Amino acid sequence: MKLGHLFSKVALLLLPLHTDALALSGKPHQFIVPEKRAPLQNIITWDEDSLFVHGKRIMFYGGEFHPFRLPVPSLWLDVFQKIKALGYNGVSFYSAWTLHEGKQGSFSAEGVFAWEPFFDAAKKAGVYLIARPGPYINAEVSGGGFPGFLQRVRSNLRTPDEDYQEASRNYIESITRIIAKAQITNGGPVILFQPENEYTLGADSIVFPDADYMNGLMQQFRDLGIVVPFINNVAFPNGVNAPGTDAPVDIYGHDAYPLGFDCANPSRWPDNAIPTNWRDLHMEQSPNTPYMLVEFQGGAFDPWGGNGFEKCAALLNHEFERVFYKNNFGVGCTIFNVYMPFGGSNWGNLGHPGGYSSYDYGAVITDEAKLMANFLQVSPAYLTAEPGRNTSGLYTDTNAITVTPLIGNKTNFYVTRQTRYNSLDSTSYKLRLQTNYDVGGFNVLYSSAEIFTWKKYGSRTVVVVYGGPNELHELAVSNTSGGTAVEGSGVKFSNRNGNTILNWETGSTRRVVRVGQDLYIVILDRNSVYSHWVVSTLPEGSYTHDSTASSDLIVKAGYLIRTAEISSGTIALTGDINATTEIEIIGGGHENINSFTFNGEKLQHTKDRIGFIKATVPFKAPEVKLPDLSSLSWKYTDSLPEIRNSYSDAAWTDADHAEPSNTYWNLTTPTVLWGGEYGYHTGSLITRGHFTANGDESSLLLNVSGGSAFGFSAWVNETYLGSWPGYDLYSIANITFTLPNLISGKKYVLTILSDHMGYFGNWFPGYNEMKTPRGVIGYELQGHDAADVKWKITGNLGGENFKDRVQGPLNEGGMWAERQGYHLPSPPMKDWEDSKGPTAGISKAGVGFFTTSFNLDMPKGYDIPLSFVFANSTSGTSGSAVLAYRCQLFVNGYQFGEYINNIGPQTSFPVPEGILNYHGTNFVAVSLWGLEAEGARVEGLKLVHGPIIQTGSWERREDAY
Ligand SMILES: *[C@@H]1O[C@H](CO)[C@@H](O)[C@H](O)[C@H]1NC(C)=O
Ligand SMILES: *[C@@H]1O[C@H](CO)[C@@H](O)[C@H](O)[C@H]1NC(C)=O
Ligand SMILES: *[C@@H]1O[C@H](CO)[C@@H](O)[C@H](O)[C@H]1NC(C)=O
Ligand SMILES: *[C@@H]1O[C@H](CO)[C@@H](O)[C@H](O)[C@H]1NC(C)=O
Repeated sequence: MKLGHLFSKVALLLLPLHTDALALSGKPHQFIVPEKRAPLQNIITWDEDSLFVHGKRIMFYGGEFHPFRLPVPSLWLDVFQKIKALGYNGVSFYSAWTLHEGKQGSFSAEGVFAWEPFFDAAKKAGVYLIARPGPYINAEVSGGGFPGFLQRVRSNLRTPDEDYQEASRNYIESITRIIAKAQITNGGPVILFQPENEYTLGADSIVFPDADYMNGLMQQFRDLGIVVPFINNVAFPNGVNAPGTDAPVDIYGHDAYPLGFDCANPSRWPDNAIPTNWRDLHMEQSPNTPYMLVEFQGGAFDPWGGNGFEKCAALLNHEFERVFYKNNFGVGCTIFNVYMPFGGSNWGNLGHPGGYSSYDYGAVITDEAKLMANFLQVSPAYLTAEPGRNTSGLYTDTNAITVTPLIGNKTNFYVTRQTRYNSLDSTSYKLRLQTNYDVGGFNVLYSSAEIFTWKKYGSRTVVVVYGGPNELHELAVSNTSGGTAVEGSGVKFSNRNGNTILNWETGSTRRVVRVGQDLYIVILDRNSVYSHWVVSTLPEGSYTHDSTASSDLIVKAGYLIRTAEISSGTIALTGDINATTEIEIIGGGHENINSFTFNGEKLQHTKDRIGFIKATVPFKAPEVKLPDLSSLSWKYTDSLPEIRNSYSDAAWTDADHAEPSNTYWNLTTPTVLWGGEYGYHTGSLITRGHFTANGDESSLLLNVSGGSAFGFSAWVNETYLGSWPGYDLYSIANITFTLPNLISGKKYVLTILSDHMGYFGNWFPGYNEMKTPRGVIGYELQGHDAADVKWKITGNLGGENFKDRVQGPLNEGGMWAERQGYHLPSPPMKDWEDSKGPTAGISKAGVGFFTTSFNLDMPKGYDIPLSFVFANSTSGTSGSAVLAYRCQLFVNGYQFGEYINNIGPQTSFPVPEGILNYHGTNFVAVSLWGLEAEGARVEGLKLVHGPIIQTGSWERREDAY
């Protein structure tokens, strides 16, 4: 844990309320029959405070995860287990239409795009799902999830306009049938459903918000069998589609990214960025639904030429979580979902132009969130406590501290923070409060230390509390006969009015005290509590609704605890370690346990006098042998034969449409030259113009659209004219190239290779930005009649009739090697040149294609992430002195990265196990596009491994490839 700031900025305190110090008017607690809220089913219900599942109130604490950004279905359970291990009980997911319906009318959801394995894995891990199939999703996916053929829809996207309705029908029908089967009413994990996405603001030219549109969409989903509640997620709390409007969802919610995406300044917390009016707004907009944050900032995306995700992770670090998440709990948020705890990769061109291949999102499956999630899961009183106003000087002795009380029927909660929320001062303050927090029949009168978790095991209760370094804390338990230290020293005991009071200074040594006969209080510091896990021993697939139950163990371990089971006196844990680790069961198992296993191996254990079981799991460092890519033998072929005089493009598509189907964009060329018109939507485009010279041609102006950081290169026959090397901010560029002397009467061909960085999203209905074309959007051939040029175009082979059914509609672009399928394993390479690989480079502008293969024999029982790393002496800047070239990396057929040497920032491309064959042969291909006359040479390319994790025996992907 890296400490950026010295002092904690906030504490979610469970603190006593001094009743006569309170001057708050809570709203009267209406009694609402949950069933009335759910006419279609009675499993998922809600009232103004929280969701209910089978009549039991739950805290939904979840995070977003996109299976399509991790195209290895056998790894999905791993992600679910890791999210669940944090104390989360939910995951939200988008579905990307563009990956399912590359060709209009032909929906497919198979192989890595199948949903059933995702639902099965969620269920197995015991995680509830929120389905968010769009059709529009944004999600930093190309087109915001819209498939390329929507470029040819004439009317407004995301409106009731007929051709949009017609275009979206097949996707809606197909995806909804799949999701409907996975609803909880059918035994699946899906409990909520979000039609549309961030439907928040629209253009003046359309009706917005459009009730016909939302009601129509919701009716479509209902007609297709969606019975769970509908939710929405306005981008900020503006009340659109809240109950009481003319197109109400069932449960209104919003998103929030309060620190924005300023990863360049990872320690900048702008003044007043912390929300303070949300509760009031909620009481105006949707007082009868629980407070729901559908997407709360859990990271940030990073653009081409950006700062890299490490800085995003620093901006949205544990301190951000402690202050901002707790502020959300101060407004009584009981459906809380983070975007996102696991990011993944924009493999195979699935990303939007505003981002590069990594979709890491600065998304760490973090420890700090674990502390809050676990606390909320064991604090049912939180769900009905009434959030009050922010106060200063009311519960404390200083205005420098702001306290937001949540006043319960019996138990109250207090969120405290610096009044100047971004202050780094250390402020000492007193809280004088008194109330009751039940821990299994014991009453914690007050505690200034935070509670991590508590569980009841028979007559024993174990509570784990923690504080920051050197903080003084006090905790009192009512009606108990005093306390004793059972481990460690330094806790002072006193007794007043029959209450046992503990007082201590937080340190790194654990203290355990017993209060009364059977209440064990484990006192830790924050850093130590990070290595504690709460894990259920219920059978696989169980959803824990009573998270204070004795079926949960509290385990001190290391890296990760995944699952636990108790049978015939044996505790069996599975989990991961990255070092020799002492594992200790501090809650549960103090009776009737005689054996202890970890990942199936029996451990020598001890049991101390209070019944804590302890054992050591040895970490065995494996030998990891990775190939040295530079010493492998590579094959090379030219991937731009198009510029040779002998090349024939007779089979290419004629770019001869005089009228565009895409009416969004004004045509300035005699015929439409952009890719979307002809079904080419991904990777790269090649456009060729044929003409017979008259000898007067002097220059060629090209205006090309490709999306942020795109590049293009142009040739006339074999003569290189030049390139637009790309800059992070430019989506469209024009350049004028001087032409060589063309001989009158001779035929010539212009060849333009342009990058396609994905389509823009379509965030504002009515603006239709998704329809911004890609490819050549304008040209002038000085000295020659433009209309006399006959054009041809290609992108990926087949366009919307794409060939690559395994990797889907977006994985292949228009380069020659891709059109041949040479990126797929084991192409016929016998006529190719031997090569030293991409570091040997190409000697002139153009595209080279390099392939190699190697075996991996990775140690079993370990999780060892592998990445391909491009050397770059200038990463992260768009400095023009840097050689302009770009590479695509293909691993076993999957495009797992686009590296742009002159823009960056990404140089390291992780490729998951399952795409890489860890126990067999791997085929790697690298395209190298040099955008300078001198060609290009990759400075270095290596395969490296990340941290070595010795992992638990969850269903390993033995057959994965
Ligand atoms: C307060 O708590 C008691 C005991 O749990 C319960 O019976 C009662 O209904 C609660 N009152 C309100 C207004 O929630
Ligand atoms: C093990 O993982 C933890 C948590 O990620 C980390 O803090 C620690 O440095 C790692 N230890 C080793 C030996 O890699
Ligand atoms: C240019 O290329 C075309 C087709 O590849 C060919 O027909 C033509 O003869 C070439 N022109 C010259 C001047 O070589
Ligand atoms: C197309 O031209 C019209 C009329 O000049 C203009 O209003 C509109 O903004 C143009 N469209 C685009 C996408 O530039």
